[in-house]
Amino acid sequence: MCSVVGKHDRRTRELNQQAGDSYNMSSEPATKMWSGRFREPLNKQFEEWQRSFPFDWRLLPFEVEASIAHARAIKAADILTSDELSRMVQGLRAIEGLPFDESLVGANPQTEDIHHYVELELTKQIGPLALKLHTGRSRNEQIATDMRLFVRAAIDHTVYGLNEWHNALIDLAQAAGEAVMPSYTHLQRAEPVLVAHWLLAYVSMIERDITRLTDARKRMNLCPLGSGAVAGATLALDRTIAARALNFDGPTPNSMDATSERDFALEFTQGIATLGIHISRFAEELTLFSTAEFGFLELPEAFSTGSSAMPQKKNPDLTELIRGKSGRLLGAATTLAMLIKGLPLAYNKDLQEGQEPVFDAADTIAGILSVLPAFTRSLKFRFDKMKIAAETGYLNAMAAATYLSNKGVPFRKAHEHIGNAVRLGLETNRELQHLTLDELRSISPEFGEDFFAAITLEATLDCHDVIGGTARARVAAALADARQSIFADNSSESAKLK
Ligand code: ARG
Repeated sequence: MCSVVGKHDRRTRELNQQAGDSYNMSSEPATKMWSGRFREPLNKQFEEWQRSFPFDWRLLPFEVEASIAHARAIKAADILTSDELSRMVQGLRAIEGLPFDESLVGANPQTEDIHHYVELELTKQIGPLALKLHTGRSRNEQIATDMRLFVRAAIDHTVYGLNEWHNALIDLAQAAGEAVMPSYTHLQRAEPVLVAHWLLAYVSMIERDITRLTDARKRMNLCPLGSGAVAGATLALDRTIAARALNFDGPTPNSMDATSERDFALEFTQGIATLGIHISRFAEELTLFSTAEFGFLELPEAFSTGSSAMPQKKNPDLTELIRGKSGRLLGAATTLAMLIKGLPLAYNKDLQEGQEPVFDAADTIAGILSVLPAFTRSLKFRFDKMKIAAETGYLNAMAAATYLSNKGVPFRKAHEHIGNAVRLGLETNRELQHLTLDELRSISPEFGEDFFAAITLEATLDCHDVIGGTARARVAAALADARQSIFADNSSESAKLK
């Protein structure tokens, strides 16, 4: 055991001499980034168990970009010559160009984490010069930076997918024209609404989801590099160099916060969890509407599955899976919140556990948004059945009470009169418009001939003539607004980042 350590120490000294600095690290592929003060080897199970490489390998592109940015900063601090910088950048770019996937994990069983991996690979690429890269930095700031870069890209990718879903819903709302459906409260039929109005409710939710994510992006877009392990870099680094190279708005203002806080990841997962709740409600409604009991929707075959047992079945697997996956999104946010809440400042290894929920949330929402816009575009509503449902069950009762109140009847009284009319309708199996004027007048003398025109389907819609109401003109205006909104613009190049 001691001889292994001794050999390691000797090799480290040799490499340090070759590298021309006093940096204490070996370039042997299997060695650690921190073995100098240790005399005993790690317990094998512990060593394997504590690795983050099995999941953080996917941070490779971000680790490389951040390393290039750091190399530029230490060049400006005269740690590297121009020639060394360009060799280092070339080496890092070469690593970035190598194919990378999960197979890296098995192929590099001794690699502790992504930082270790890049350092070892860089040593293979450019020799001992690689060992200078870690001058003036710590893995604590590196992982904080990589995760910010990952979350930033994940936000851009999610917003891009949301723009697509936003557009799909708007097109569907447009295509629905003046089709009507019942709205529900307590899952009981309430009042008729335009199908477009119902779809635009989800458009409003998505718009808030997008702003939640883009707001979080603005707050997190500061660069931790130069924060060191906890107290700030021990080199007089110009931190604006790395920040600029990585397209951050500037350096983070406090090294302890920067290396140990993950609220940027929390905001991301919480934003995604809220989005997941919205998507899940949509999925739930479509699942319900596709049942024979509602019959509002023909499930698109391209997005449905059959039953191995019951030949007649067409099952709404897509919406069910979305509903299920939204639970995972909430789980990720909860895991992260629980993880952070008890941590003393600054870095603690617990934070390593915060990576997987972020990756899972990003992957899960990316998966959902890879199918949801196309699924939405393929929806075929049974407008005939929706209309029948909107016309039965006294859904014009509120419009009828409004008619009476417009005639000067106090609303409480109007409500009671229409309640009586509904009761008469229920007893004689007729809708309000099928009662006779005499019958209505026996309930209240304020009923006139014009009552029937006031409770047609169109009038029932149009009496909700307020901003945000389902009057036809209001919905047309809302649709035009949604189309004009910035959220409908998905042309941004950065949004296409993976
Ligand atoms: N793999 C580690 C993580 O994800 C990197 C940072 C390690 N820092 C440390 N002081 N051990 O948190």
